[in-house]
Amino acid sequence: MFLKEPVLCERIPTWPWADPAERHIVHYDEFVKKGGYQGLRQAIGMDRGEIVDIIKDSVLRGRGGAGFPCGLKWSFLPAPDGGKRYLAINCDEAEPGTFKDRLLVDFDPHLVLEGIAIACWACELDTAFFFIRGEYHHQAEVMEAAIQEAYDAKIFGSQGLMDGTMKFAVDCHVHRGAGAYICGEETGLLEAIEGKRGWPRIKPPFPAVKGLFGRPTIVNNVETLAAVPPILQRGVDWWKSIGVESSIGQAPSYGTKLVGVSGHVNRPGVYEVGMGVSLKDLVESDDYCKGIRGGRAFKACIPGGVSMGVLGTDQYHAELDFDIGQKYDLMGLGTACPAVFDESTDMVMVARNVARFFKNESCGQCTPCREGAQWLYKLLVRLERGEARPKDLDMILEIAGSMGIIPGTTICGLADGNNWAARTTINKFREEFEARLLVPA
Ligand SMILES: Cc1cc2nc3c(=O)[nH]c(=O)nc-3n(C[C@H](O)[C@H](O)[C@H](O)COP(=O)(O)O)c2cc1C
Ligand code: SF4
Repeated sequence: MFLKEPVLCERIPTWPWADPAERHIVHYDEFVKKGGYQGLRQAIGMDRGEIVDIIKDSVLRGRGGAGFPCGLKWSFLPAPDGGKRYLAINCDEAEPGTFKDRLLVDFDPHLVLEGIAIACWACELDTAFFFIRGEYHHQAEVMEAAIQEAYDAKIFGSQGLMDGTMKFAVDCHVHRGAGAYICGEETGLLEAIEGKRGWPRIKPPFPAVKGLFGRPTIVNNVETLAAVPPILQRGVDWWKSIGVESSIGQAPSYGTKLVGVSGHVNRPGVYEVGMGVSLKDLVESDDYCKGIRGGRAFKACIPGGVSMGVLGTDQYHAELDFDIGQKYDLMGLGTACPAVFDESTDMVMVARNVARFFKNESCGQCTPCREGAQWLYKLLVRLERGEARPKDLDMILEIAGSMGIIPGTTICGLADGNNWAARTTINKFREEFEARLLVPA
């Protein structure tokens, strides 16, 4: 579903038909002039529980990859006991092919800060850490400057939210990562903020109960939090009027989504669409991606970061919503940032390259992930060189299938990502892999 007007990107002239020359950072004064911080003003006049109920009602599902309902997560927090409570904002954005959060930070940082302030008020969280990936130097500076503006405007700070309108004080800090993918996993991220190696924690306990420094903590993605102010301002019914119901009896996919499209399309970029838009419509629309480069045919797509697996040639029509996992044999929607491959793509090379990424990024805590990632990579290198035997292909599938939280062998989902990427690429392009065997199967 294409939108009549942008919502999260309403102040960002990156809309396909906007003039890129007008792109600029929306600073505090401009943000306020254009209606910014009205959602926060509204929120502090409301009962905290009412805000959580609104977000629950909206079925806002996390935009960081897992799609967990945001309001439900907020409701898991224990009652305040007078001690510290934290919000950790996940701007690690290290999933290959994903570059949507940086757009919000690049151009409309106060929208994210407004979402942060509302979340802190609604959940009684006194300190927010904006965790940003190491490579986002410019974005970290933009965010630091925007936070300073928000302190100067007394949004944050010891006087209390919004110039002391509420005697509830919130502090907000930027914490820069050092470039490890695993620090995007929510508990790896908490370890990193604590100054330790980014090793994911065994769950439970979940962060809402025992998170940063052992205290209750909410971890949310940047895009999730950016959706909170418009939901409060425009209402739940409006949010639910965008997006789609599930066609397979699952939870709905409401609202808008930032999709960062890369790969073999004529106009890559970040676009805001209604959930449920089909990949084919997005790629072929003249208003969006303008088709596949050189007029070539579609071959495959990584629909939401490599961790989710690949869509096959006959799945071009797949709808970008939370049903996609079950309907098209993927792990899930992930970040909904499609990397599109045309007919010239060598899928064996893709599988090997993706396996290389995961073997480099495994934190090494769990044996099936640490060792399995190395073996998957070695076997795929052998296969790409035409030196693999038929049993090697089966071995790749067996190793991949044994790695992850879903088979129950690892602490975090990085190994599931490796598993799904390898298995779906081989299963959906099996003939291409068999043709590379030393003795064809
Ligand atoms: C290996 C791995 C990497 C992840 N990287 C990110 C990331 O870069 N950004 C993000 O928001 N979530 C990432 N996630 C998901 C987070 O663990 C978590 O679900 C998310 O930040 C929660 O926010 P949300 O509910 O608002 O989506 C990652 C998960 C895994 C397993
Ligand atoms: S699954 Fe892999 S990345 Fe995750 S904790 Fe285990 S070894 Fe580390």
